[in-house]
Amino acid sequence: MRLAVFASGTGSIMEAMLGRGLRVDVLLVDRACRAETLAADAEIPTLRVERDSYGADFDRHGYTERIMDALDGHDVDVVALAGFGTILGPEFFARYERRVLNTHPALLPSFPGWHAVRDALAAGVKVTGCTVHVATAVVDDGPILAQIAVPVLPDDDESRLHERIKAVERDLYPATIAAFLRDLEHEEVSP
Ligand code: GRF
Repeated sequence: MRLAVFASGTGSIMEAMLGRGLRVDVLLVDRACRAETLAADAEIPTLRVERDSYGADFDRHGYTERIMDALDGHDVDVVALAGFGTILGPEFFARYERRVLNTHPALLPSFPGWHAVRDALAAGVKVTGCTVHVATAVVDDGPILAQIAVPVLPDDDESRLHERIKAVERDLYPATIAAFLRDLEHEEVSP
């Protein structure tokens, strides 16, 4: 099974995957980011499909096509989104149906979206957490594979709470991906 990781940020989740022995076959990024440096150090090929716009004129379908073209020839079986900052078009999820995974820093279906940690704090919840799920064309939706709760502490701000959630994601996501890949391999060998 060949795994692609999509990232845009610090890449700490991908770093955790590598640290826990998960083989990443290709990294795809939508902008210059630290994840690229990590991949270079680990000799993982990187595809940078740079976004040309972040505004209302962003051509999501054109961008999604560029991503799919870039992946051609890399023989990818499973895609793990790891802090990837671009919402992809439905054609991507159709091509990799039930093979795109995501980790989200909240207990879905609560607090979907880019500001999940901020939104949880604003709502005053006492417990939040992280969710690993199969990603679909609907953002932060799709079958839940694993969740772990993280308590909100009285002096938490967004970055402290997010960091504690990420500490949990760094174990949960690699372990869930590894189990997912094992199951898939097993299914393909004995359908
Ligand atoms: C994680 O919290 C993940 O759930 C969210 O983006 C963050 C990525 O963290 N989708 P990093 O950039 O890998 O540190």
